[in-house]
Amino acid sequence: MSAAVYKVPQDAEARAKINRSTYEQWYAESIDNPEAFWSEHGKRIDWFKPYTKVKNTSFEGDVSIKWFEDGLTNVSYNCIDRHLDKRGDQVAIIWEGDDPADDKKITYRELHDAVCRLANVMKDNGVKKGDRVTIYMPMIAEAAYAMLACARIGAIHSIVFGGFSPDALAGRIVDAASTFIITSDEGLRGGKKVPLKVNTDKAIEIAKKQGADVANVLVVKRTGADVAWHEGRDIAYEEAVAKASATCEPEQMNAEDPLFILYTSGSTGKPKGVLHTTGGYLVYASMTHEYVFDYHDGDIYWCTADVGWVTGHSYIVYGPLANGATTLMFEGVPNYPSPARFWEVVDKHQVNIFYTAPTAIRALMGAGNDHVTKTSRESLRTLGSVGEPINPEAWEWYYNIVGDKRCPIVDTWWQTETGGILITPLPGAIDLKPGSATLPFFGVKPELVDAEGKVLEGATDGNLCIADSWPGQMRTVYGDHERFIQTYFSAYKGKYFTGDGCRRDADGYYWITGRVDDVINVSGHRMGTAEVESALVAHESVSEAAVVGYPHDVKGQGIYCYVTLMGGVEPSDELKKDLVKHVRNEIGPIASPDKIQFAPGLPKTRSGKIMRRILRKIAEDDFGALGDTSTLADPAVVDDLIEHRENRK
Ligand code: WTA
Repeated sequence: MSAAVYKVPQDAEARAKINRSTYEQWYAESIDNPEAFWSEHGKRIDWFKPYTKVKNTSFEGDVSIKWFEDGLTNVSYNCIDRHLDKRGDQVAIIWEGDDPADDKKITYRELHDAVCRLANVMKDNGVKKGDRVTIYMPMIAEAAYAMLACARIGAIHSIVFGGFSPDALAGRIVDAASTFIITSDEGLRGGKKVPLKVNTDKAIEIAKKQGADVANVLVVKRTGADVAWHEGRDIAYEEAVAKASATCEPEQMNAEDPLFILYTSGSTGKPKGVLHTTGGYLVYASMTHEYVFDYHDGDIYWCTADVGWVTGHSYIVYGPLANGATTLMFEGVPNYPSPARFWEVVDKHQVNIFYTAPTAIRALMGAGNDHVTKTSRESLRTLGSVGEPINPEAWEWYYNIVGDKRCPIVDTWWQTETGGILITPLPGAIDLKPGSATLPFFGVKPELVDAEGKVLEGATDGNLCIADSWPGQMRTVYGDHERFIQTYFSAYKGKYFTGDGCRRDADGYYWITGRVDDVINVSGHRMGTAEVESALVAHESVSEAAVVGYPHDVKGQGIYCYVTLMGGVEPSDELKKDLVKHVRNEIGPIASPDKIQFAPGLPKTRSGKIMRRILRKIAEDDFGALGDTSTLADPAVVDDLIEHRENRK
């Protein structure tokens, strides 16, 4: 790990809303007296009825998390209506299409119009407060309209990333018992079309067999492709919104009414529906957006995530719009039409704050500096990173080449479950160390614990827990509160367990070391190894499968699959290709296996438990350090696995 320290630049400090002493003072207040601290900061959003209660949370027993629980508000109102007087004509969303010639600017007033019309279309088709609406969309402005329209009428959105397969989409429709779907004819990414409507039709067929009852599909025209049309079920967005009224009063929502469900992968079972609620989430998303990026009125802000992930929810849509920002939505990919695209867009729209993922940085770093240095990037002031640990080499490149040594990098650690950023530098307050997410945000109390749950002090390594609640925290797993308790609060009593390992150095800086459970992080996309395994064993030729992550230069982690075939099935390269295709069909292209090794046997304990530690080591090509294999039922299988390993350096 790099020992370099980058001091806060003087101009960043002078400009910043939070300097070091304010950080220290606010942080101490937020920990010593969370009630008073959040009572004050809860006022950053508008309330129809102010809260009198601030924090009512317990990580013990049934685990109950409530913030601002008697307040009434509306997220769409806070992201749109309250800005209309002052900034109705300011651009809310800059949309940059996949094709560099394609862009569009949407003012707050236009956003209001679009969201109200869409909300009315949903209402006219029977969508009510509390109903679950599935959004399966490309990165077009209508995706943001859809989110805000749901929030406006109190419907709960569940966004499914456009890269997921019909099967994965179906599972999420069924779990949420969603009756209304918003999609698009096709998506467009890197010049390639994504058949969203075709996938939706397939997903509905699959979901129907599992009891789902989808009443309507609202279809936004993106490419104009000729798509199958189900009369009575499918609704053409353009026609419907043209006819709808542009007035729609925002629903009065309780602070603890659900805002959205977002499915995410864990170490076991199917993806779980992370549930976020209204008041605390918006307070936290908007506050972190303002201070972590040191956002000032008039700034142009760009987060390159997709709205299908939590980063898109909190830091493309809700946080920035609640702050009245201009947020850029990008439809395309970093290397199309060329690896200069990001920086060309930065220049074109004069972006001040830029937030992306390490995997993109590494890929662009590999494409050479010329693509960067031929652009100006003078508008840039703050750079951000999210999704996985950023290696110091990528950090230095981002800092030196992209940011011309001027721009602080905020390496933000957080999770779908946390709703917003928890550990991060603040650009005008915290000295940087490449590879470290540095210090906790206000109200966040990290603890490192050992395997027995003992809290470790000082410079140490441990499992990262958070000792007390913050307003943006998830409230439950949709439909399965027991799973919520089991997953996050059972390993260490009275604490939220993140699933991440972490080191704290002598300066109190946090260094996230990666997941300590069976979750892998592939190009910043979070995936349960169990999901890939169950996709593999669903193939007729596979009797057993074990999946682990291994270090990958660009993706962070790659997917390594050990596959045992059914008796009589011959291993072949053809079969490998077929298995890759099969996993893509079951989950989506983001889950494509990188390596498949046919394994006559898997290393198991005498009680039949697969020893993943050994499989990880072999996948890493680090089998000199296998540790104790004496508890294996048949130690000989390890020799075979080593001999036929796929990842030789
Ligand atoms: C990892 C994404 C190191 C971590 C917002 C976490 C990170 C998981 C960082 C959550 C970071 C995210 N440094 N690791 N700055 N940010 N992670 O739910 O392992 O898609 O648990 O949320 O990504 O992924 P998720």
